[in-house]
Amino acid sequence: MNEHARPQTLSERADELEEQMMHELGERIATKSVLFGMADGKVAMDNGPALKAANPDKYFLMGADPRLPKMPAKPTLIDFFNNRFASLNHLLQSATHALKGGHNEKVVMACLLHDIGVAGFIRCDHGYWGAQMIEPYVDEEVSWAVRMHQALRFFPDSAAGYEYPQMYINNFGADYKPEPYIVREYERARNHKWYMTSRLICVNDIYSFDPNAKVNLDDFVDIIGRNFKQPEEGLGFDDSPSAHMWRTLMWPTRFL
Ligand SMILES: [Fe+2]
Ligand SMILES: [Fe+2]
Repeated sequence: MNEHARPQTLSERADELEEQMMHELGERIATKSVLFGMADGKVAMDNGPALKAANPDKYFLMGADPRLPKMPAKPTLIDFFNNRFASLNHLLQSATHALKGGHNEKVVMACLLHDIGVAGFIRCDHGYWGAQMIEPYVDEEVSWAVRMHQALRFFPDSAAGYEYPQMYINNFGADYKPEPYIVREYERARNHKWYMTSRLICVNDIYSFDPNAKVNLDDFVDIIGRNFKQPEEGLGFDDSPSAHMWRTLMWPTRFL
């Protein structure tokens, strides 16, 4: 558009985006799941028959979305880090802190994976989602720690070097109180033999938002190799209890 042209109206812009999207998708129709619309305050879903009627020559997308980074046929955890996790830097900074603090590899792994729920999937209850995704592939202590950081981060432990983060006061307000299910989970975790592993996620977490920190996934490839049981068939294709979650991350716009 040259500088003298009339600015596009919103609906022209939307039409153009749709056109561009169709072009990138070729002969396929991508649809949005209800959850994607809920983030915009709408409980609604694309009407399959109406979309098909408007595009009689096209089929619905039933696999890879060409607008997203391409995944290999047998994806590894590293492939998900590179192609599906949005906030890689935060995870790497947390793991780097843990490594420099001299903690064992289970702690480093827990820090590296603690927010993959947020980074690749959804914010709400991200500790639980993340733990479930990794459960078949890591030591039980690692997935337990990832699950429990959901609750522990709301409760200080001065002896372990963790105060309630000022960032949470800024983000959620001074009067935010964790819901009863979070309190119960904290109470269960407090006396658990792996409490400190999860607590160390919190300790290494709050310092890990420096946008200028230099971190590299390559530094963790060996630790991942020793602590993540990468399935031969690729994540998503090994019939594990969480394989469907990895497939959904791979194909988030698949029709069914
Ligand atoms: Fe987190
Ligand atoms: Fe975090």
